[in-house]
Amino acid sequence: LSANASDSKSASSASASSSDALVFDPDAYTKLTKTVTDTDGDDHTVVYHFWKAITYVASPVDATYQSLIVSAPVEIDGETVDPANAPILLANSIGGYLPASVADATEVGGGGSAMGGGGAAPSGAPSSSASASASAPGANGNTNATGGATSSNQLLALAAGYVVIEPGARGRTLKNSGGEYYGTAPAAIVDLKAAVRYVKSNKGRIPGNVERIVSAGTSAGGALSSLLGASGDSPVYDKYLKKIGAADASDAIFATGAWCPITDLEHADGSYEWNWGGNDLSTGKQVDQTVSKALQAQFAEYQASLKLRGLGGFGPLNARNLDEYMVEQYLEPSATTYLAGLSDSARETYLAANTFITWSGGRATFTWPDFLTHVGARKKDTPAFDAFDLSAGENNEFGAGTTLARHFTAYGAKNDSTGLSSKRVASDIPELLNLMNPMYHLVEKVNSKRSKHWWIRLGTKDSDTSLTVAANLAARLDNLGDDVNHIYYWDEGHGSNIDPGDFIEWIAQVTG
Ligand code: DHB
Repeated sequence: LSANASDSKSASSASASSSDALVFDPDAYTKLTKTVTDTDGDDHTVVYHFWKAITYVASPVDATYQSLIVSAPVEIDGETVDPANAPILLANSIGGYLPASVADATEVGGGGSAMGGGGAAPSGAPSSSASASASAPGANGNTNATGGATSSNQLLALAAGYVVIEPGARGRTLKNSGGEYYGTAPAAIVDLKAAVRYVKSNKGRIPGNVERIVSAGTSAGGALSSLLGASGDSPVYDKYLKKIGAADASDAIFATGAWCPITDLEHADGSYEWNWGGNDLSTGKQVDQTVSKALQAQFAEYQASLKLRGLGGFGPLNARNLDEYMVEQYLEPSATTYLAGLSDSARETYLAANTFITWSGGRATFTWPDFLTHVGARKKDTPAFDAFDLSAGENNEFGAGTTLARHFTAYGAKNDSTGLSSKRVASDIPELLNLMNPMYHLVEKVNSKRSKHWWIRLGTKDSDTSLTVAANLAARLDNLGDDVNHIYYWDEGHGSNIDPGDFIEWIAQVTG
């Protein structure tokens, strides 16, 4: 044993045999063939080596979730390819902060989150058809399936010659026989980091360039992807990683892809009201305006505290000019791209139905209030994330022990409607919030081991969170000097990924 005492990650006394248990076997694959339809509609035949579920920690709490699958292309359209030094797409399929398992996966894209389910059952069902289409949906064909967005990425990556690694992770609904929740925060991010450490510790054995890991995920999976990118090698996770017997290696990743990241949870109620506060629910009901206004006031303070400068030379951002910034930097360019891509007659039809848009000189312009009216019903009541009755998924994400759901904001706790005796958040909540928030690693700390390349996407009709969450993340990264590629998809809803081919090209560009 040659442990370096000055390296906090090298001593792993909890599991002396972890180094043996976590050795990737290069020969333990099966050879599979997949037909991948690219974004132009052309089919490609990919022969690849597939490693079914491998447990990535030495002391798993639940190996059903703490496992990953590996797919490495060896032949594309009859031409031999060598994946040994290819970029690695680390694609999680986490949705809703729920458990995600690849335990039963039999092919690439085999991951799945137990969205809407009880959470205990792994859902690694292979896709039913032999030919899996990875082409983008129509610009207005809102894809709400989180898995759809990510599986496009996986299939296109494979057909581009990249290695695809798909990790499972524990999620918020998992409960043991003692009634204890063992997948709530920070379990999912700890597991993803352990997966990265497994990959990196197997450099030279596992296919792909472990120094070129590109993470991808959508929604809660996008939040965790951005957190993975922001928090690389942060010591604040060490005790959790040690406990599960994570490999002794770095967990920093090279680049990060995040679609509709549902993140910055402790500020999400305020930003949600700043964005959607005036929009009614789908029932036509208006949300409690006292609550909405109180949360908006909190957001204004938070936004000012971030001291962000907008992209495109916009200058300092605050809650008063953020609407103008969102319109100029993101929404008008998004509509412009969308409309420019339509045929003349389709554009005319769209503009006739959406008269709030001025189309002039090949550019769309409109106001923020008109845009909000255009989006229409908000998805969530107020507060959107720390619900007074503890009914939000995020309340469960911050559950602990035998407690299913907890408040994680002072305002939520103060206004608790479930009869709790304490009107304050539990003492461990502040640390958990830091562990779950990429902004902690970018604002409070400035983590130099973060990824420096970022691909961020969000639909303009996605009211699962505020449109400013992704914009603030992007602004902070930009202000730190990182390479940020962030656009909004016009009229697209939650979970949409309409430019997966561009993402795959971007990976080649940034890793090349
Ligand atoms: C997801 C959606 C939400 O509205 C949310 O609050 C958390 C996660 C999701 O689709 O992953």
